[in-house]
Amino acid sequence: MGDFSKRSKIIITCMKRLAPFLRQEVEALGYPVVRHFQTGLEMEGTLADCIRLNLNLRCAGQVLYALKSFRVQHVDNVYDTVLKMPWENWMAAGGYVSVTSHVNHFTINNPLFVNVKVKDAIADRFRRETGSRPNSGPKLDRTVVHLYWHEDLAEVFLDTSGETLAKHGYRKIPGRAPMLEALAAATVYASRWDRATSFVNPMCGSGTLAIEAACMATRRVPGLLRTNFAFMHLLGYDASVYEQELDAIRRQVTDTSVRILATDLDADAVMVAQVNARAAGVAQHIEFRQCDFQDTPLPQPPGVLFFNPEYGERLGESVALENTYAAIGDFMKKKAQGYTGYVFTGNLELAKKIGLRASRRVEFYNGTLDCRLLEYELYAGTKRIA
Ligand SMILES: C[S@@+](CC[C@H](N)C(=O)[O-])C[C@H]1O[C@@H](n2cnc3c(N)ncnc32)[C@H](O)[C@@H]1O
Repeated sequence: MGDFSKRSKIIITCMKRLAPFLRQEVEALGYPVVRHFQTGLEMEGTLADCIRLNLNLRCAGQVLYALKSFRVQHVDNVYDTVLKMPWENWMAAGGYVSVTSHVNHFTINNPLFVNVKVKDAIADRFRRETGSRPNSGPKLDRTVVHLYWHEDLAEVFLDTSGETLAKHGYRKIPGRAPMLEALAAATVYASRWDRATSFVNPMCGSGTLAIEAACMATRRVPGLLRTNFAFMHLLGYDASVYEQELDAIRRQVTDTSVRILATDLDADAVMVAQVNARAAGVAQHIEFRQCDFQDTPLPQPPGVLFFNPEYGERLGESVALENTYAAIGDFMKKKAQGYTGYVFTGNLELAKKIGLRASRRVEFYNGTLDCRLLEYELYAGTKRIA
């Protein structure tokens, strides 16, 4: 049976450019981080720690627990090494396993081929040791094995998450161009919002930013909304560790009197945002309104004013959006004095139309699109760019 108290290397993956925010989250849970890199970080811990990480992290993708690392020249070395690993200690012969990989080696042009080799080695090991073998396929809802292979180094992990942690389980209806929840959470962290002053989100779309802000203010973490993780399907899994952590995250939920506003011109978007907020358990903490962004109320004392306008990915659309970006600039300058304004966009040409000098620019990716979170200090004399 798998040992949930044995320490090993843990890799937590995330979207490109989220690693600094993921690092803050991991450190806030009390875990030292060994290093962070473009798409994740490395730390040390047990499978019991993985349970805690899975429940608490907003910016993560997968929590991977290392089983073995080895030198490799050819895919046959992967098969031979995986065959020698005691898989019968980790998963039931009658279970189900999925294999994922990240491969960068000159001999491999189709990583799916490597996944099949790993799956074959696990199945052959099971047949040899137990006479039967687990089923396998692409579903990530039970045991998941991950192979990382870069040049001559390979590492085999138990993926303790399965389905990505980047989705937080409250999006019942997607809406138009929604932000992925992990990205939205990271941008709210990047705004340095103090969770005590107002958070105002005009153009809220499906409500992701306001919902993430409300979850932060009330200390709700994604694990409250998810009931299945890959770690639950490992042999040796002790449900009491999960239940204790679930109990702890339930007890930490607090009330808040902070004002969080979400508005959108589109009535459907407001309805979708409300449905999603209800699913997240924070509808009572968000004031929704259907209105043009310029009619969004700005409560006192001022806090964060956060826009995620459309970027205009198709030709012609950006011309129409130029006026919108200019009007956002005007609104911030004339109506939002005392607030810190943020615009998250994937179109830096349009961003220039805002016409104010950004005090900070934080780099993100939305998928493969290079994006920026632009910060504007809005005081009476906020400078216009000529
Ligand atoms: C890119 S989406 C926001 C996505 C959102 N961050 C999410 O995660 O779902 C932009 C939103 O701006 C809204 N919008 C466009 N023009 C507007 C205006 N003049 N006033 C208010 N909302 C507007 C659209 O209805 C759309 O929902």
